[in-house]
Amino acid sequence: DEKLRDLLLAHIHDVPDYPEPGVMFKDITPLLADAKAFAALTDALAGLCEKYGATKVVGLEARGFILGAPAAVRAGLGFVPVRKAGKLPGATLAQAYSLEYGTAEIEMHADAVGAGDRVLVIDDVLATGGTAEASLRLIRRAGAEVAGVVVLMELGFLPGRARLAEALDGAPLEALITV
Ligand code: PRP
Ligand code: MG
Repeated sequence: DEKLRDLLLAHIHDVPDYPEPGVMFKDITPLLADAKAFAALTDALAGLCEKYGATKVVGLEARGFILGAPAAVRAGLGFVPVRKAGKLPGATLAQAYSLEYGTAEIEMHADAVGAGDRVLVIDDVLATGGTAEASLRLIRRAGAEVAGVVVLMELGFLPGRARLAEALDGAPLEALITV
């Protein structure tokens, strides 16, 4: 709702020319440092876990861990980290994806989700959609269903939503704020 959006927006700071000239960085650390705003965000994310019938929460390293883990706890669900390549000790599924320059790779433990699971992906920002799209492919490859993707912020001037459409295959993409 509008009150939540205003509270969240008031605690997200615009940092011009970071990490490079011409980029406006959205800094969520003031939001994390404010107990009331962080709790309101966590409650909203946990509510969406229930709304979309999630059985597990996937958080995307690193900022998706900060938002996804407390939401999972609040919703009474287990949390699954999707990590940058080379960080998980067990058998993993890996998924490469393209960045503006070059490629990146993320991994998930192969047995972390599976048949019967409905997995909700949580991250802070949807930009090009590359990271979230790769995570959806991991979830489906593990044999689980995608409950949806929830982000704090969608950068509406980038084509992330369009890029995700195929991998979502009808599942919802919800942004608490669109900038
Ligand atoms: C940022 C952000 C999202 C992703 C969005 O993560 O936290 O995860 O980029 O971009 P995309 O939609 O174009 O994939 P990043 O890996 O830069 O940093 P982090 O480890 O701090 O989360
Ligand atoms: Mg990230």
